Amino acid sequence: MSAYQSTQYAAVDDYNNNYSHNLASQRKAGNRRSKMIIIGSVVVLAVLIAIGVGVGVSVSKNHKASSKSAISSSSSSSSASTSNSSGVVQQTDPNDPSTFIKNSALKQAFYGLAYTPYGSQLPTCNNTLAEVITDIQLLSQLTKRIRLYGADCNQSALVLEAIKQTKVDMKVYLGNYPIPTDGGAAYVRQRDLIKDALTTYGADHVAGVTVGNEYILDYLTANGGATLDPNGPVGNAGAALLLPNITDTITMLSGMGMSSIPVGNADAGSYFNTQVLQAVNYGMANVHPWFANEAIEDAAGWTAEFFATTNVAAAAALSNKPTMYIAETGWPTKSSSAADASDGPSTASVANLQIFIDTFVCQANQNQTGYFFFEYFDEGWKDVQFGGVEGWWGLFNADRTLKNVTIPDCASP
Ligand SMILES: *[C@@H]1O[C@H](CO)[C@@H](O)[C@H](O)[C@H]1NC(C)=O
Ligand SMILES: *[C@@H]1O[C@H](CO)[C@@H](O)[C@H](O)[C@H]1NC(C)=O
Ligand SMILES: *[C@@H]1O[C@H](CO)[C@@H](O)[C@H](O)[C@H]1NC(C)=O
Ligand SMILES: *[C@@H]1O[C@H](CO)[C@@H](O)[C@H](O)[C@H]1NC(C)=O
Ligand SMILES: *[C@@H]1O[C@H](CO)[C@@H](O)[C@H](O)[C@H]1NC(C)=O
Ligand SMILES: *[C@@H]1O[C@H](CO)[C@@H](O)[C@H](O)[C@H]1NC(C)=O
Repeated sequence: MSAYQSTQYAAVDDYNNNYSHNLASQRKAGNRRSKMIIIGSVVVLAVLIAIGVGVGVSVSKNHKASSKSAISSSSSSSSASTSNSSGVVQQTDPNDPSTFIKNSALKQAFYGLAYTPYGSQLPTCNNTLAEVITDIQLLSQLTKRIRLYGADCNQSALVLEAIKQTKVDMKVYLGNYPIPTDGGAAYVRQRDLIKDALTTYGADHVAGVTVGNEYILDYLTANGGATLDPNGPVGNAGAALLLPNITDTITMLSGMGMSSIPVGNADAGSYFNTQVLQAVNYGMANVHPWFANEAIEDAAGWTAEFFATTNVAAAAALSNKPTMYIAETGWPTKSSSAADASDGPSTASVANLQIFIDTFVCQANQNQTGYFFFEYFDEGWKDVQFGGVEGWWGLFNADRTLKNVTIPDCASP
C-alpha cells in the first residue's frame, strides 16, 4: 500500500435540521484537529453531526490527519433583482442576459466547477434568478460543466432558466441530497423539483442527476464512525437505504423518456460502497489535498494519484464500469482562525490556490480527468457557522469578483 493509499480522505456532510434540510451541501469546518481522536496509529476525525452541514473529514492512517469539509451552497448576496447582481457583469443590452460582456481574465480552462446558488437552503430560500444569471455568465467563461449538490429552493430550474437566458454552452449535473433518517422526505421533495425542472427545460443541458452526497460517509459516521468499512455491514446498511432512491430516479427518468440522462452518486473518495457504484452510471469523489495534509507542492500529484488508485481502479473492476469524476478538489485561500491557517505543511492562501491551479488544471485536462473544481465562490454563511477555512474556497470572492489568481489558458475538453 502506498503512502497515498494509506491516506484516506473524506468529506462528510451532515444535515442540520435547525437549518432545515439543507440539501445544498455544506461543509463543516471549525477546528477539526480538536476533534480528532487518535486510536493507536489510526487518526480519526470526529465529525460534528448535530449541526447539519457538510463536514469534511480526513482520516489518515499512520500519521495525523486534518479534516475539512466543503460543499457548497451559496454566496454572498448582493441585492439582486436587476439583470446583473452587483455590477460585476455588464450587458450590452440590460434586458438580454445573453449579451454579457466577457472578462478577458476568465478562460474556459476548467473541466467543471462545483456550484450552489446563493440562498438555496431551506427554509430561507432567498436565491434569485438575477443572481444565478450572473453566476452562469461568470461560470460559463470558465467551464462548460457545473455540478449542483441538491435541488431545494428551485435551484435546478433557476440554473436551467439562466442557461436558457444566457444562451451559453453549459451542462449541469443536477443533485438530489437525500437524508438517511427522514423516511425519504428530502429525497421525494427534491426529486419532484428535478422532475418539474426537466419537464420545463428538457434534457439538453442536463449532464446527469447525482443522487446522494456523502451519504455513506455520513451514515458510517452516525452509526459507529468514519473508520468503518464502507463495504462492511454498516456501509451496506446505508447503501440499502440509498439504493431505492437511485432506482427511483432511474425509473422516473425512464418514465419521462429521458433515460439517456446518466444517474450517479457522489461521496468522499474513500467511502464509495460497491453496491452503490454498481447501481449508477457515474461516481463523483471528493479528493482534497488540504484535508489530507499535503504540501501545496505535492497537492496536484497527490490528488491525481489518490483518484487513480482509489476511485478509478475500483470502478474499473466493476462490470458496469461507472465513469468516475473528481467531485471536489481545490485549495482554500484564507482561514478565519489561526488553528486552521495551515494543513500542516502549507497555508491557506491565494498564492497557494494559484499553485494548485497551475499544477492541477491543465495537467488534469491533459490527462483527460473529469473534475469539478471546488468551488465557484466564497460562502459567507459557512464562515459564520464553521469558521476556519470553510468559507474560503472560491475562485471568486463572495461578491463575485475574481480573486487575485491567473486562470491558465488551456482549453478544457
Ligand atoms: C438570505 O437569507 C439568509 C438567512 O436568513 C440571510 O442571512 C441573508 O442576509 C439573506 N440574503 C439576502 C440577500 O436577503
Ligand atoms: C449592472 O448593475 C450595476 C449596479 O447596479 C449598474 O450600475 C449597471 O448599469 C448594470 N449594468 C447593466 C448592463 O445592466
Ligand atoms: C422556479 O424557477 C423558474 C425559473 O426562474 C420559475 O419559472 C418558476 O416559477 C420557479 N418555481 C418556483 C416554485 O418558484
Ligand atoms: C428514499 O429512501 C428512503 C430511505 O431509504 C426511503 O425511506 C424512501 O422510501 C425512498 N423513496 C423512494 C421514492 O425511493
Ligand atoms: C497527470 O498524469 C501524470 C502522468 O501520469 C501524473 O504524473 C500527474 O500527476 C497527473 N496530473 C494530474 C493533475 O492529473
Ligand atoms: C496578486 O498576485 C501577484 C502574484 O501572482 C502579486 O505579485 C500581487 O502583489 C498580488 N496583488 C494583490 C493586490 O494582492
